[in-house]
Parts: sequence; C-alpha cells; structure tokens
Amino acid sequence: MKQGQITTPCYVIHKERLDGQIALLKKALDENWGNHITGYSFKTNALPWVLMQMKRAGFYAEVVSEDEYNLARYMGFSHVIYNGPVKSRDSFLDALSRGHMVNLDAEQELDWLEASGLKEVQVGLRVNFDLEAVCPGETSSGEDGGRFGFSYETGALQRAAERLAGMGVKLSGLHLHVSSRTRSINIYRALARMAVKLKQEYGWKPAYIDIGGGYFGGMENRPEFPAYMEAIREELSAGYTPEETTLVVEPGTSLITPPVEYLTAVVDCKDTYAGRFVVTNGSRSDIDPLHGKRSYFHEVGYELADRNDCYAIPEEVLYAWEEEGQENPAEGREILDRQVICGHTCMENDRLFVLEGRPALRPGDVIAYRKVGGYTMCLTPLFIRYFPPVYVKEGGQLTCVRERWGTEEYVRKSHFRDAF
Ligand SMILES: Cc1ncc(COP(=O)(O)O)c(C=O)c1O
Repeated sequence: MKQGQITTPCYVIHKERLDGQIALLKKALDENWGNHITGYSFKTNALPWVLMQMKRAGFYAEVVSEDEYNLARYMGFSHVIYNGPVKSRDSFLDALSRGHMVNLDAEQELDWLEASGLKEVQVGLRVNFDLEAVCPGETSSGEDGGRFGFSYETGALQRAAERLAGMGVKLSGLHLHVSSRTRSINIYRALARMAVKLKQEYGWKPAYIDIGGGYFGGMENRPEFPAYMEAIREELSAGYTPEETTLVVEPGTSLITPPVEYLTAVVDCKDTYAGRFVVTNGSRSDIDPLHGKRSYFHEVGYELADRNDCYAIPEEVLYAWEEEGQENPAEGREILDRQVICGHTCMENDRLFVLEGRPALRPGDVIAYRKVGGYTMCLTPLFIRYFPPVYVKEGGQLTCVRERWGTEEYVRKSHFRDAF
C-alpha cells in the first residue's frame, strides 16, 4: 500500500459498523436472556483481523473443522464451540479435554468419546428434525430434509442421549442450528419450541440451548437481533429459565456482512452489437462466490481512482466521497439506457449488474458494493488473480490488515519452488 492511497479492487471493513452490530446483539441478549454465550461463526469470515475483534469482544470461537479449531487455538481463543459433521478424532478429544463445548453430530464421535473414558465434558447433541413441516418453504434443504445432527423422528437423537447416559456422560446441551432461506423470526420460534418439546418429552435438563446462527443483520426491512431474541425468549420460557439454562448463539453473517464493502474501478468501456459493456477490475467471485445472488447493493463514485496509478484511490478522495458526499463530476456526461457492469475474469458470466439510465461510466470511476462481508472472502477462489487486499476504516484512518496476495503467497507451499 502506497502511503495515502488504497489499491483497487479491495475490501474495506468499517470498524464502527462492526462494533455497532456486536453491541446490538449483546444488548438484545442482555435484555432477553441475561445468561448467554455468543459464539462467532468462523466459517462466515475468518479473516484474522475479524477474529481478533471477535475475541476482544468476548466471543467464543464457533468452529466446524480441525483447521478452524486449530486456527481458534492459534488466535488465542480461550473458549471454543466445536460443531460440524466431520471433526478429526484428535481435535475432538483435545477440545473435550480442554473443557470446550462440543456438539456431537456423528455416531463416530460417540464411539471416540466412549473409548476415551472422558466423563467430565461439555457435550451437546445436534438436533435434526423436520423444521420444514412447521416452517413450509423456509428451510435451505426444503422437503429433501436437512442432513445434520441426530434425527428426532427416527429415534437416533434419543438413542444418542441414551448412549451418553450409559457412558456416565451428562448431556450438557442441545444444538439446534438450521440454515434457512428466509432467516425469519418464525424459524427461531420453531427451534425454541423444539427445545421445549425435547425437555418435556425426554425430561432432559440441558445446561445450554444453542439456537445457532442464521440471522439477518443490518438489512433494511428485515428483522434485527432484538426481534429475534425477543421471540426466542417468548418460546423458550415455556420450558427454560435463564437461571438454569444458558442461551448460546453463533451468528456470522448478521455481524460481518453489513460492515464490509468491496471497491472496484472501471478500467474499460466498449460498445458491441449487444450494447455497452463496462469492464471493472473486481469480480463477481469476490462478492458472490457461489454466483447465487440476484442483486447487489452498489453505488457509483465518479472519477475517484487514478487511471495512471493502477486505479488506486487517494485516501482523501475516498473520505470525501463516503463521508462528505462529492460534487457530481458526471454532470454533462451522456445518459445511457443500459450499461452492463462486468468483472475482470475471462468468464462471460462475470457480470455484476445492469446500470440503467445513468451517466456513461469511464475508466477511473469507482463502483462500491456494500454489505459483502459474509461468505465472500472465505470463498473467493484463487482464479486468475489472487486475493485482494483488505483495509479497515476506523475513526477516519485506513489501515491495511491483509495485503494483496501475489506470486510469493501463491507458491509458498509448493515443494518444487526452488526450481523456479
Ligand atoms: C453450525 C453453524 N452455526 C452458525 C452458522 C452461521 O450462520 P450465519 O453466518 O448465517 O449466521 C452456520 C452457517 O452455516 C452453521 O453451520
């Protein structure tokens, strides 16, 4: 990073916005279920800077693989919630013996636990049940049914609890995370009701209910943490009290999606028989790696990037645009009906959106995509160009927290690199 300017394409994390999301979550929990634990879902965005913020804010590491578990240990998290269908035996036993919360998701984990002879451990069972039946059209798996956890309907859940009892191991918790398409409040009501039903039916007294992640956050016309937590409290109170039971949440996207933006610069404009194509130096893969989104929050800033200096944006120019608003240097430009905004890769489908009825874009204009922090950086492919840099904006200061990856980072782990 040259002093005083940022490279495009890049991600910018707005620290104050991240702090705002964290504060909103904690307040909603305090007001509804004073006895709570907040986990941060590593998979959603495990950028080391982000993890450090979450650790400082008191979050537990919510991890779902040996690699994530090792990362949590490396980053110094003293509390871990270990979930996931495929844990390694070593990391599983390590987590248990260190007193971390481990939510079982597979029969072999019961075998490992039994063989280990460990008894004073914190284990929960991930619950698999037909949520689609009570929230039709809302779950990610739909009528095909979810595959995680032990099935309530087949009796596998009850059998797993009985196996634990047979080993002399207490069932500490119930893990109810389910991914939904709607992220609706209705989903959390149904999950909490299921927790109550299990208590009533089997007489279990779990010390914690882990209601999972999957909330909206920072999106207009969508629920926020207070509404979710209120609904959870209302339902959970039918069977549990904060005095006896800890509520665990493990959000990811609702915390880290809103504060992150992605800045790209226009590098070329061309007319073909099909119309105007605007080529930018970013890529759809950086904000929508699974190519599943239908639209992006975007904004255009005219003449912000320096065409003669690799489309870098001087910091003061960026501030003026984002904070003070800028005079419109696009005045006088031709208004075009349709401009197709494209990415830098060689894939025809690297097209981001169609800009309609706006001034003709030119090289050096900037397109910013907002609210792109969840399931983006962690899924960005090493395709054609390597990882973009990440900056943090805090109190009027920009700091680079991950440099752009180049050849050196790419070849670092290759065994034959000395032959180059
Ligand atoms: C077990 C578990 N917990 C938490 C999360 C976080 O979900 P989100 O990022 O939607 O909040 C996920 C995501 O799939 C998950 O699988």
